[in-house]
Amino acid sequence: MNAIAYAHDHREEALEQLKHFLRIPSISTLSEHQEDMQRAAQWLQEQLTGLGMERVEIAPTPGHPIVYAEWLQAEGAPTVLIYGHYDVQPPDPLKEWQSDPFTPTEREGQLYARGASDDKGQLLVHVRALEALMKSAGGFPVNVKCLFEGEEEIGSTNLDAWINSNRERLAADVAIISDSHILNEQQPTIVYGLRGLSYIEVHVESARSDLHSGIYGGAVHNPLQALCEIIAQLHDNTGRITVPGFYDKVRPLDPEERAELARVPYNEDTLLEETGAPMAWGEPEFSVVERTTARPTLEVNGMGGGFMGEGAKTVLPAKAAAKLSMRLVPDQDPWEIATLVSEHLRKLAPPTIRLEVRELHHGWGAIIPRDIPPMKAASEAYEEVFGVRPIFVREGGSIPVVATLKKELGIDTVLMGFGLPDDNLHAPNEKMNISMFYRGIETAILFYQKLAEVM
Ligand code: BES
Ligand code: ZN
Repeated sequence: MNAIAYAHDHREEALEQLKHFLRIPSISTLSEHQEDMQRAAQWLQEQLTGLGMERVEIAPTPGHPIVYAEWLQAEGAPTVLIYGHYDVQPPDPLKEWQSDPFTPTEREGQLYARGASDDKGQLLVHVRALEALMKSAGGFPVNVKCLFEGEEEIGSTNLDAWINSNRERLAADVAIISDSHILNEQQPTIVYGLRGLSYIEVHVESARSDLHSGIYGGAVHNPLQALCEIIAQLHDNTGRITVPGFYDKVRPLDPEERAELARVPYNEDTLLEETGAPMAWGEPEFSVVERTTARPTLEVNGMGGGFMGEGAKTVLPAKAAAKLSMRLVPDQDPWEIATLVSEHLRKLAPPTIRLEVRELHHGWGAIIPRDIPPMKAASEAYEEVFGVRPIFVREGGSIPVVATLKKELGIDTVLMGFGLPDDNLHAPNEKMNISMFYRGIETAILFYQKLAEVM
């Protein structure tokens, strides 16, 4: 039996395995889930050992563990590094979920659960492809190294150091990552650009403790109000970021790439339909595709402080805080950007409050050449399964390891996704389209087979 037929005959088993994975609430950002992170890593280790990978190990880091495995018996064949992440985002707001986020539930061809698409389903696509190849041929057409981390959603903070100190064992010809989405079910999509990210927290304080707003209001600057005043100055009214120097290193879009991005079948109408927003927003001189993939942004991810319980409470809060993130494009340096924004925040802070900035994490953006042989393998694999050739797009999201793999190992990454735009990543009711999961497994099998031919 060939690998594709094996995968086809074992679809139910693959889906059950995915459900098992999804039942582990491996939320990297919440410390009360530390044991679940360990459990998820162990579960992955068992699956990899079970399918015949060698040197399967759980490597501890100062944060969550890395799962590593390899199989190097394809003598003379290229080596591929498969990356995925087993951590997931918190499920909040819980009330918005139609079924429990950690009880995978099938509805109308979709499997709903936190992490279904980002990234457990897409990671498992590769595990199942390897299983099918191993069971049908007794080995893989290429040498394989698996690198699965548990800190992607919190900035891959400990991964860079681990990669740096394991450069020899990680040596490979190319990396493959499925952690992105395709344009729609009919149109496979290879991502050739990702944005970088710089994440900070701003803390504002005034009085020693909360105050009665009737006694002190009007004489003590309300920290929530002050923070709003500061944040409101970070963009001008066209949506351009006002931080001095912020755009200095932005790689300009050449007319050729702009023309290409203009061909991506995505426009303001698609955006409004996808999101439900009443109107598009942002830099008017750039298209929505450009704004969301090739232009940098500054977002307020959350703001807190004061009283938000039931009913009314008259209070002048002592503190307020906001979480800000900057999406960056090549060649913006995430550390430099954090410094520029922090300095600007401190300049905007009035003397009536105290302001402190804390840096959380940083990651570089990436642009991947489209003419390398592994892209051809991915393109052909997609075309065989979907019946159409993939288009190439840049994405607005971030996968920090892509830049790290280039810097530390000198390798390019093929971003071959199997998610869909309506998978609700990081949002309530995240799901994976079950047919995309199956087609992903077949595409991955073909990719590995073709990789051995093109390299
Ligand atoms: N899977 C996403 C990245 C992504 C989203 C790629 C959409 C392509 C399209 C990934 O898991 C993610 O969310 N990454 C974080 C990284 C950050 C915490 C450094 C992100 O982009 O917010
Ligand atoms: Zn992801």
